[in-house]
Amino acid sequence: MPRRGLDDIAVSGKRIFLRADLNVPVRGGAVADATRIDRLAPTILELADAGAKVIVASHFGRPAGRPVPEMSLAPLVAPLSAALGGKPVAFVAATVGPEAERAVAAAEAGDVLLLENLRFHPGEEANDPEFAGKLASLADIYVNDAFSASHRAHASVAAVAHLLPAAAGRLMEAEIGALETALGSPARPAGAIVGGAKISTKLDLLGNLTERFDMLAIGGAMANTFLHALGTDVGASFCERDMADTARSVLARADASGCEIVLPSDVVVAPELADGVPSEVVPVGGVPSGMMILDVGPGSANGLAVRLGNLKTLVWNGPLGAFETPPFDAGTMQVARIAADLTRHGGLHSVAGGGDTVAALSAAGVVDEFSYVSTAGGAFLEWLEGKTLPGVAALE
Ligand code: 3PG
Repeated sequence: MPRRGLDDIAVSGKRIFLRADLNVPVRGGAVADATRIDRLAPTILELADAGAKVIVASHFGRPAGRPVPEMSLAPLVAPLSAALGGKPVAFVAATVGPEAERAVAAAEAGDVLLLENLRFHPGEEANDPEFAGKLASLADIYVNDAFSASHRAHASVAAVAHLLPAAAGRLMEAEIGALETALGSPARPAGAIVGGAKISTKLDLLGNLTERFDMLAIGGAMANTFLHALGTDVGASFCERDMADTARSVLARADASGCEIVLPSDVVVAPELADGVPSEVVPVGGVPSGMMILDVGPGSANGLAVRLGNLKTLVWNGPLGAFETPPFDAGTMQVARIAADLTRHGGLHSVAGGGDTVAALSAAGVVDEFSYVSTAGGAFLEWLEGKTLPGVAALE
């Protein structure tokens, strides 16, 4: 479906309601990862430079419809201004009502305002038309640059998009473009790496990917459930035993659609998940009782490397092992570096997303070497599941 972008709208002299996602990790009062802010900045600057009044609006955390001072967006004024090259950002301690209206009226062309946390108002998560109407009354045009929040049918994402001329911002365009290329019409052979703890949370995703891709490598604790379903003793590993039938049906579905499922051939085991605990590499059929599988082994990582070498497209979601606890990061780190290398030199189109995945790629030092790394967590997953995201649909 055609989507309007910034090239299709005249913004000079207009008031723009810019839905952003400033839901960034904050630790000890400081922004721990400014990726979302940095990736949003070009859209704000483009709009402001073109002579628009830019009203930036976002949620932060989950305050459940009431003001929670620790979840105010006020502390993000300085990091946002820094990402805009020092351009001033005026904070408005309201989302709708007279204070917001006065601030917008007083702003001049090229000014940037930041509204208070949208989720301080109960109308936001309720997708309340009245709240959406008040948000819309602040602006002439709606721009959504929050792909990572577009799986939420909330007022500032969904309802308001129908009340104003709506367009996608630059980050939104980049996210959709990368995912449409990788998932909709991927260069073949196309494969995916899916890791994480539970198959129960990734069932729709696994089903959708097996139908679209030629290869699906499964890692993380999720692989244990598949190994168990195939009759392998996984010892004391985390394993969803009640999902064995489901795992077998995923395998059957993959078989029917010609998607090769790659499971670990060797694994790293230890008596517990703890930093620096003694560990050993064993074949998947030889997990000692009482031991836990905590990473893929070097044989599995090498086997995966060979398969990645044959791919033209790779989508990655979820680490292969307990990467936050060394030495169980080794498999994920090795495969991340190989994927980055193939992207640089081998013509691989690599797209990754999801909070843990991005943290793992970052730890491997390869975030900038992937073709595209999404800023989205839940929205990325829902896209991989083949779902229509309300915020994206509203722009079509
Ligand atoms: C995210 O961080 O994934 C988005 O900002 C959505 O946040 P939410 O899960 O609280 O809706």
